[in-house]
Amino acid sequence: MENSEKRIYQDTIDNLSDGVIVIGYDNKISTCNDSACAMLGIGFGTAIGKSIAELMLEIEENNEFFELLLNAVYEKRKISKTVVFHTKDSTKYIKVTTTLLIEDGVDNALIAVLSDQTETTNLIIRNQSLATQIKALMNSFVEVMVTAVEEKSSYNANHTRNMVRYATRYLEWLSSHGELLDKTSGNTGPLIMSIWLHDIGKLLIPPEIMDKPSRLGRSIVTVKHKIEIARLMLRNRMLSGEDTEEHVRSELKRLDEAEELIVSSDTLPFLDEERIAKLNEIAGINLLTSDGGTCPLLDPSELNEITVARGTLTDEERSIMQSHVVLTGKLLSKMEFVGEYKKVPEWASKHHELLDGSGYPDRIRAEDLPWETRLLTIVDIFDALTADDRPYKPPMPPEEAFRIIKDLADKGKLDKEIVDSFYRSNAWNRSPEEALMKELTMKALKSNLENALAFIDDYLNEFDCPEKTRMLIDLASEEIFVNIATYAYVPRSGTVTIKISLTEDHSQVNITFSDSGIPYDPLAREDPDITLSGEERQIGGLGIFLVKKYMDDVRYRFADGKNNLTLVKNLDNP
Ligand SMILES: [Fe+2]
Ligand SMILES: [Fe+2]
Repeated sequence: MENSEKRIYQDTIDNLSDGVIVIGYDNKISTCNDSACAMLGIGFGTAIGKSIAELMLEIEENNEFFELLLNAVYEKRKISKTVVFHTKDSTKYIKVTTTLLIEDGVDNALIAVLSDQTETTNLIIRNQSLATQIKALMNSFVEVMVTAVEEKSSYNANHTRNMVRYATRYLEWLSSHGELLDKTSGNTGPLIMSIWLHDIGKLLIPPEIMDKPSRLGRSIVTVKHKIEIARLMLRNRMLSGEDTEEHVRSELKRLDEAEELIVSSDTLPFLDEERIAKLNEIAGINLLTSDGGTCPLLDPSELNEITVARGTLTDEERSIMQSHVVLTGKLLSKMEFVGEYKKVPEWASKHHELLDGSGYPDRIRAEDLPWETRLLTIVDIFDALTADDRPYKPPMPPEEAFRIIKDLADKGKLDKEIVDSFYRSNAWNRSPEEALMKELTMKALKSNLENALAFIDDYLNEFDCPEKTRMLIDLASEEIFVNIATYAYVPRSGTVTIKISLTEDHSQVNITFSDSGIPYDPLAREDPDITLSGEERQIGGLGIFLVKKYMDDVRYRFADGKNNLTLVKNLDNP
């Protein structure tokens, strides 16, 4: 290069706002501009003639940046990458773009252009963390709502959680077989969220309908009361000579039979026509009332309730119950679902529609039922049939449930292909350990400590846990629960989930406490020096130290935005 050319070349480099470093293939810096020196925090004079390796030793903690340059020089490679660069008082994100300097047809140096991307990168990071925060907020909202539904109805306690577990495993199975993307988006978050929210409308269903345990529900008390008054009035008439003993005795017998018929019909799964006819007959029996008048044994609404042929709900109550899907749609329409989550309300609120148009509430047909809703419907029915926490019916074995589900698919109500592949996936099959697992979610409040310990004790007692082991587990659980209730969500509030399980051979119990509060690993603290006196010792840390002492193992894991602390105790080692 001529001298004049060199000057123009240097002037051009100097006037660039981006940093420029020219590195010869001897690995030495032949020139650079002020911007580069300012960016890297080095003096202009000190850089020229130095090798990259020397600079790397001088400017510590920036190996990634210098190794990038070294590689580009050695391999004579064009690269473009943003790397972190630490200076004395700040951390920068520098985009390094290299190109080969060709002179007279020969490449003999490498030009590295450095542009400061700190502002843009920080903005991206801020946006990403904002997006993560919004997602976490949304998930915690979902969890609160689901807990509210579960707390409202004991019948529904694990329904949604089971469905999420089955669906998650099924989607993973589809993905591992390369079939997921033919069906739905690779991001299965929105689908899982629609499962979490599908029964949220049940929040607005009156509990006496949602959990109606028998045909008459609370009315059985009124009916029994009416009969009891009538009996007293009849005896009274007999004693006062207003009626003959023979007539009163036959009336009392009629009442006993009528009461027997009502009580036995109240909880039967199915009433045949003969029984319904008998109930209609006795409804008109005139009962004596305390004010000297009479009333029918069953008023029209009671007769309507007790003569329900199948289940416990009258037509009116059933339609109120079924309106939970409309309410799910209404509640979710008030929330702003954006991007990939836009369809969550639609998928969730159509879960009782069937492909042949016989579902509710809108009798939508196959062409308007997306794959995601079809899956949700199948998983919903599967769990309703196989759930083991419904007090009114025993769980159905999965194979039998699939017979019913396959029959519904044959009748054109459910998606046959999904039913078949869901069955093949085995995602519905609980492992023996899972079958032994129980889970409870509650608000993380100290006032819930008793409930939490009762849940753990009930489980342990079922498996004849030795008394001393149970006490140690209770002490450790109390420490962990109170810590979560006191510190995890300050100043907000949130929930805690307790999962308890036994190993298949019943030799070890695992209890995991999960919360979505402030990330905190209690095991990261050093154990307190217990040889010191109380005043010398630092506050705190003793509780977790004792937990570690009582248990055989204590583990902490932060996953999916949750703190998970697991207590492990061998049952043969009190
Ligand atoms: Fe539902
Ligand atoms: Fe459901």
